[in-house]
Amino acid sequence: MEIILAKSAGFCFGVERAMGTIYDNIKKQDGKLYTLGPIIHNKQVVDELYEKGVQAIESLNEAILENAKIVIRTHGIGKSIYDEINKNEMTCIDATCPYVKKIHRIVQEHYRNNYQIVIIGNPNHPEVQGINGWCENTAIVLNNFEDIEKKFKCINKVCVVAQTTIRRKKWDIIADYLKINCTDIIFFDTICNATNLRQNEACEIAQNVDMMVVIGGLHSSNTRKLAEVSKQYCKDTYHIETFEGLPEKLSFVNKKIGITAGASTPACIIKEVINKMVEKESVQTNSEEMSFEEAFEQSLVTLNTGDIIKGTVISLSNNEVYVDLGYKSDGIITMNELTNDPSQKIEDIVKVGDEIEVFIVRVNDGEGHVLLSKNKVDMIKGWDEIETAAEEKTILEGKIIQVVNGGVIAIVKGIRAFIPASQMSDKYVSDLNIYMNQNVSLQIIDINKRKRKVVGSVRVVLEKENAKKAEIFWNEIEVGKKYTGTIKKLMKFGAFVDLGALDGLIHISELSWTKINHPSEVLKEGDIAEVYILDFDKEKNKISLGFKKAEDNPWEIVKSKFNVDDVIKCKVVRLVPFGAFVELLSGVDGLIHISQISNKRIGKPEDVLTVGQEVDAKIVEIDLEKQKISLSIRALLPDEVPVSNDDSDENKQEELPTEYKEDVKVTIGDAINEKSE
Ligand code: F3S
Repeated sequence: MEIILAKSAGFCFGVERAMGTIYDNIKKQDGKLYTLGPIIHNKQVVDELYEKGVQAIESLNEAILENAKIVIRTHGIGKSIYDEINKNEMTCIDATCPYVKKIHRIVQEHYRNNYQIVIIGNPNHPEVQGINGWCENTAIVLNNFEDIEKKFKCINKVCVVAQTTIRRKKWDIIADYLKINCTDIIFFDTICNATNLRQNEACEIAQNVDMMVVIGGLHSSNTRKLAEVSKQYCKDTYHIETFEGLPEKLSFVNKKIGITAGASTPACIIKEVINKMVEKESVQTNSEEMSFEEAFEQSLVTLNTGDIIKGTVISLSNNEVYVDLGYKSDGIITMNELTNDPSQKIEDIVKVGDEIEVFIVRVNDGEGHVLLSKNKVDMIKGWDEIETAAEEKTILEGKIIQVVNGGVIAIVKGIRAFIPASQMSDKYVSDLNIYMNQNVSLQIIDINKRKRKVVGSVRVVLEKENAKKAEIFWNEIEVGKKYTGTIKKLMKFGAFVDLGALDGLIHISELSWTKINHPSEVLKEGDIAEVYILDFDKEKNKISLGFKKAEDNPWEIVKSKFNVDDVIKCKVVRLVPFGAFVELLSGVDGLIHISQISNKRIGKPEDVLTVGQEVDAKIVEIDLEKQKISLSIRALLPDEVPVSNDDSDENKQEELPTEYKEDVKVTIGDAINEKSE
């Protein structure tokens, strides 16, 4: 057995220093010690410290009450907590990592010089909260690209720092954006190299060993990441907290074994694992006397259920793929285990001679074959990508393969993701079957790896796109600007128009120059319409649109076509006690007052005229401003019967019904208005 131990395995510089400080103080035995939060994420260490009387607390109060010493862990704290410690004259053992301290100094200095502090990191991480405490919690914390849109406005004098443990990729993406969009900006790349170094070293070792052992808390995220990275290059990777976590029958004989450990794993635990491996290998070597058959078996690839190995495709049938694994039996991948997409054919996915990675489902299916799965490999890889995408809210592509109760199933990075019906679109969709076999852009909105549950949303993506379009729209909108839109909904009071980014409303009065009772008299849903902006209010998200064209205004036509003294032929459209309305143009009526209907005295207009009758009349007045036209038939008639004083308007008024008496001098515009009501 050969063991390769990663140089970076175990405590980083900051944790090593903090642990040294705390043990030194334990040895001094001069008072009770409390740590503000668990000193590191390692159960064994925290338990051991507890046994030695060091307790983790969440607030200073307990320590103040007991007059105990308080230990500040590597993540550091904000200035106000130091102030509180000083105010209460507490003894403080400051184990803040010097790299974190350096960030505190940068932030404090630049904040004093009126810089806006930006921290790239997780706002819930204690280190970030501590850093923020050095600029009176005024920092803008950006954890992903989305945060920039939500929280960041381009301002001058910006100072950017990073949480020490963030991924460099995150820093690069956000910093690149800030560089382009801010003019006076200073960057302090405060990412600690310890995490990257440890992962890179694990990758290198994993590629050159038969087995990787990763030691550290099963809940420690940096250790889990190390195990994932190692597994990519070495299928025999074991993540353990102690030696007892390794499989009982695992053989160490003639193996080259790589060992690494998380940042919170004490050297004593690493040492103990190595010692026990050496002991066990020695026992295994002495006790193993291999038979010929066993030696032959060992010359072949060893397979375990759950392993991921490489194989070569040797033949294809209608619904199975045969794979050479270098094992005594060939492997079989059934169609179900090849792809989640029922629309795909075998030959679309693999061909003879391809080298593929497969997951061992069962070493012997009862007929001497090894049952394999390509799906599971895709899923394992896909989970990493999906988790990252969920965390960073990036957009993924998926293919809809099934309509189910309440939504659809999409294949995303080889994983089945559920998209609820309400998340398939930003509009109501009555039949989800229209999406079958379509590719869609989606964002992961919920993920539960343990339950294998992924929930996606197309709607979130569409809403983001719409928000961007709306922003552009609002920036470019101006009164009078023309748009082409689709009539989305007709209501009694007007028509809603989809302008692409936003909806606008054409009020019913703006639809036509003539009186209409319902928008459907002019437009129907789905029509494409040319509209223009009448008014808008970004705050209230309201856009008022115009539709009727100035050149279609019938009063413009009146202006050019009719003159006083013109004699025209017109149709009687309505009779009222004080006269008759005649239609000059569509939308323009004129009034022939009762006194102007005949050269004889008449009791009511119906005595002489009927609705629909065509008459010749003379235009006696045109008032374009008030939109009124008065006409006279009498002016065209000979004065056969002299008009007595009784025919005067004043006398006529006596004969009108009360509601019209005040209207005896009604002009055509008033009459039109009256008609409209
Ligand atoms: Fe310090 Fe880096 Fe460790 S910041 S605590 S040395 S990971």
